[in-house]
Amino acid sequence: MNPLADLIREQIQHNGPLAFRRFMEMALYQPEHGYYTRRRDPFGRAGDFYTAEQLQPVFGILIAAIFRRLRQERGAGTFVVVELGAGRGELEPYLAEFGYAAVDVNRGALAESIHGAILANEFFDALPVDLCVYRDECWRMRDVDVDGERFRFRDGAPARKALTEYLERYGPQQPAEGTLAEVNLAAIEWIGKIGARLHGTLLIIDYGYTRRELLRFTEGTLMSYRKHQASADVLADPGERDITAHVNFTALEQHALSCGFRRLRFESMTATLLAAGEADQFAEALAGDQTERSRRTLQLKNLLFGLGESFRTLLLAKD
Ligand SMILES: C[S@@+](CC[C@H](N)C(=O)[O-])C[C@H]1O[C@@H](n2cnc3c(N)ncnc32)[C@H](O)[C@@H]1O
Repeated sequence: MNPLADLIREQIQHNGPLAFRRFMEMALYQPEHGYYTRRRDPFGRAGDFYTAEQLQPVFGILIAAIFRRLRQERGAGTFVVVELGAGRGELEPYLAEFGYAAVDVNRGALAESIHGAILANEFFDALPVDLCVYRDECWRMRDVDVDGERFRFRDGAPARKALTEYLERYGPQQPAEGTLAEVNLAAIEWIGKIGARLHGTLLIIDYGYTRRELLRFTEGTLMSYRKHQASADVLADPGERDITAHVNFTALEQHALSCGFRRLRFESMTATLLAAGEADQFAEALAGDQTERSRRTLQLKNLLFGLGESFRTLLLAKD
C-alpha cells in the first residue's frame, strides 16, 4: 500500500511518462504523502539519515563561531541569520543571538531584504532535478514510466533549451553516449532569489562536485536513503525514502557570480570547521565534565574526519 505510488501511477496512465523532476517533486513534497511533507521525522537514528545538524552541540557552536566572525568583519549594523531548508531547526538555540529565522517547506518565508547571512545546509541537494541522457549527440529527457506495479526510466523527448544551456555551461564536457546528468534549475532560481534579497553572506554546505569532477559521475549522482541504507534505486517507494542529487558547485558559483556575489571560500567542511574552532582551540565546543567532553570529542571527530571530508563549503558574499 503506497498511496503516493498509486497517485503517480494514475498520472502516468492518464498523461504519459512524467519528467523525473516532477516524480522527485511528488516523492519528496506532494502535500499529503511527500517524504518531507508528511508527518514523520526522517532525521537521526530512528529515521533514514544523519546530517551534521544532529551532531549537537558541537556543530551549532562552530557554526555560531563562523557567523560571529562574519558579523565582526561586517562591522556595525543588523546581522541576522536565516536558515534555508532548516529541517528540524536544530541550529536555533546556537544561532538565537542572530535572531535566527527558519525557512522550510510550509514554514517561514524568505524575507524581502536580509542583512546578515543565509545558511543552506543540505538544502540544494534536496531540490527536484531534471535528469538527462546523452544519445546520438543530443541531450534527451529521462522520464518515468510504469511497468506493472513498478516505475522505470525511459528516454523521452530532446531536452528543452533551458536544460541544454545549463548542461553546456555546467554539465559534462565531451559526454560519451549514454552519459546521465542532472540539471538543477531550482538551485539556479534560488541563487537568483537569494541574490536579490541578501546583503551579506551565503554559506552553502553540501556534498557535490565541480564541473571538472563530473568525469567521475557518468551515471549521474541520484541516490536514495532509507533507514541508513543508500540505494541507487530512486524510483522505488516514492514518499518512503529520501532522494538526493549531489550539488553542482560550479553551477551555483558561476550563477552566483553573475548575480553579483563574490566567492570567499570553497573548501571541505573539515577546513571550514577547523578554521571556526581555531580561535579558542575548540575550547567552547569541547567544554563540559569528562563524560560530556568525551561525547563532544566524538562529535568533533565525526564532523572533521567523517562528514567533513565528503561535505564542502561554498561561502559567497554580496554587499
Ligand atoms: C536534507 S534536509 C536538511 C535539513 C537540515 N538543514 C539539516 O541539515 O538537518 C533538506 C530540507 O530542505 C527543505 N526544503 C526543500 N525544498 C525547500 C524549499 N523550496 N523551501 C524551503 N525548504 C525546502 C526540506 O523540507 C528539508 O527539510
